[in-house]
Amino acid sequence: MCGIVGYIGCEPAGPYLIDGLAKLEYRGYDSAGICLNDGKELVVKKAKGQLAVLKEMTDNGKSLSGTVGIGHTRWATHGEPSDVNAHPHLSESGRFAVVHNGIIENYQQLKDYLISKGVVFRSMTDTEVIAQLIEFYYHDSLIDTVIKVLGKLEGSYALGVISRENPDEIIAVRKESPLIIGLGEKENFIASDVTAILSKTRKIYRLENNEIAVLRRDSVKIINTDKEEVHKEVETVTWDVDAAEKGGYEHFMFKEIMEQPDAIRKTISPHIKNGRVVLDEIKLTHEQIKSFNKINIVACGSAYHVGVVAKYIFEKMLRIPVEADLASEFRYRDPIINDKVLTVVISQSGETADTKEAMKEAQRRGSYALSIVNVVGSAIAMESDDVIYTWAGPEISVATTKAYSTQLAVVYLLALYFGDILGTIVPDEYKALINQLESLPEKVQTVLGHKERLQYLASKFFNSKDIFFIGRNIDYALSLEGSLKLKEISYIHSEAYAAGELKHGTISLIEQGTPVIALVTHEELIGKIVSNIEEVKTRGAEVMCIACDTHPEIKDVAQTVFIPKVCDMLLPSLAVVPLQLFAYYVASLKGCDIDKPRNLAKSVTVE
Ligand code: F6R
Repeated sequence: MCGIVGYIGCEPAGPYLIDGLAKLEYRGYDSAGICLNDGKELVVKKAKGQLAVLKEMTDNGKSLSGTVGIGHTRWATHGEPSDVNAHPHLSESGRFAVVHNGIIENYQQLKDYLISKGVVFRSMTDTEVIAQLIEFYYHDSLIDTVIKVLGKLEGSYALGVISRENPDEIIAVRKESPLIIGLGEKENFIASDVTAILSKTRKIYRLENNEIAVLRRDSVKIINTDKEEVHKEVETVTWDVDAAEKGGYEHFMFKEIMEQPDAIRKTISPHIKNGRVVLDEIKLTHEQIKSFNKINIVACGSAYHVGVVAKYIFEKMLRIPVEADLASEFRYRDPIINDKVLTVVISQSGETADTKEAMKEAQRRGSYALSIVNVVGSAIAMESDDVIYTWAGPEISVATTKAYSTQLAVVYLLALYFGDILGTIVPDEYKALINQLESLPEKVQTVLGHKERLQYLASKFFNSKDIFFIGRNIDYALSLEGSLKLKEISYIHSEAYAAGELKHGTISLIEQGTPVIALVTHEELIGKIVSNIEEVKTRGAEVMCIACDTHPEIKDVAQTVFIPKVCDMLLPSLAVVPLQLFAYYVASLKGCDIDKPRNLAKSVTVE
């Protein structure tokens, strides 16, 4: 995710800002920039690419003068990675500079308004709107203006603001996006992440939502949006840098598992307005949507598993035939595809070679390509006919978790959007689904609360040689992901089977003590999967179930992790969490290199 640093003190700010940004590099970014008040002007230096470019441009920050400044590493959301879209952003006359983490959901309306008033924008970002609004409304008090502007913003943000006329102040704001204040001797700091300030201070304030900090060299005042002072306890950070990068967790994978409620919320919430799914960013017309007679999904690995879930959901809700294909198979099998087929392309990185080539193959044959991508400006995002971004933020662990969950979230949005246009979802069902979708992040949070139980169950299974996953319908699609997660990070051989297939061969592998993980969430087929569980138990299998809390009787069948009951379409988002945690704890007990499993790369750019 993007990173923020800020410094106000008596030393040159440039070298500190560069150093702070270097500490945030691990979070992933595509451009970086700093802005200092040199006593006369706000001087901005920013560049696309690695921090090394900015370091060279500024002689490690030394070429800029000034003792107050802000800096940023950007992970593109609105607007491709580029020099001009990099932060900090200046207001039109250069009086105010802003760095921002998060997403301003109503930025387009605000931008249109400012343009109608003659304001000239330079970038494609949502952030620039904030700088321009501050200049537009400014009279004589920066803090009053910032509070006024906050009242106009919808979405999430952590902000750092400096002004040309006042070199003695930084204003910092937090809403839904983390921001801390570091307290030094005659110097104070802002940062999105403690790693950026640990070399300078361990004394911090954590801002809460809607709190505003006014930093001067020798004081920090925290107020709310009514300008009432907020008294906070100073916290002393005891983590070392390595632990701090991982938010205090041992591995990025665990951190990313825990980030899922937030990532899902960020992906869903900009797309639901007044109880309806809004996909403003796509060009696909209602007529085109109605003209398709098939949906074709191409992807690799976990993204393909999202495609398999999507097949069940789209077919059920849209009544259109859907094929989910491994991109590496699709591209070489002379697929039957034409302009009546919508191709949905799923990729976290947006750079996976097979997925990209499969998409191009589909496009060559006349198909319209709609991609679901996490990395803004990546090849697949740029070359597809339409893109819907997931807002998972950078995923550092090789094994995907939060990207998988946000891809699922986009699948739900598409199912509702298309179903509404095609008339395959009745209004009451639509309303109920929207309500449940909006409360999904909370439900995922509830499931994360079962982590100790998953740790216990992992301790029972981590010495196994083989583990099998079974399920039916969407539960089968999910078992593919549970199995991949486990094998890729724990190196335990594991396979996923459609439970109905057991008797056609696989059951011969079951012997005394063979672990079987059964997904028992799909309401219509509970009786059938329970019969399959009994079959493997009879042959000695040790079974663990994932089931909905509306079926407490499942605990009499096998040891069970319960998830909250939601509609069938949304269950994969809850059921995948225990599978991720289980794989994580098994790998941890085995002492594996969880974030960087052997032989694997985060982005597979060769076939
Ligand atoms: C597994 C995993 C991979 C990716 C696959 C596709 O945990 O991360 O299977 O899902 O390599 O990558 P993207 O989504 O970048 O196209």
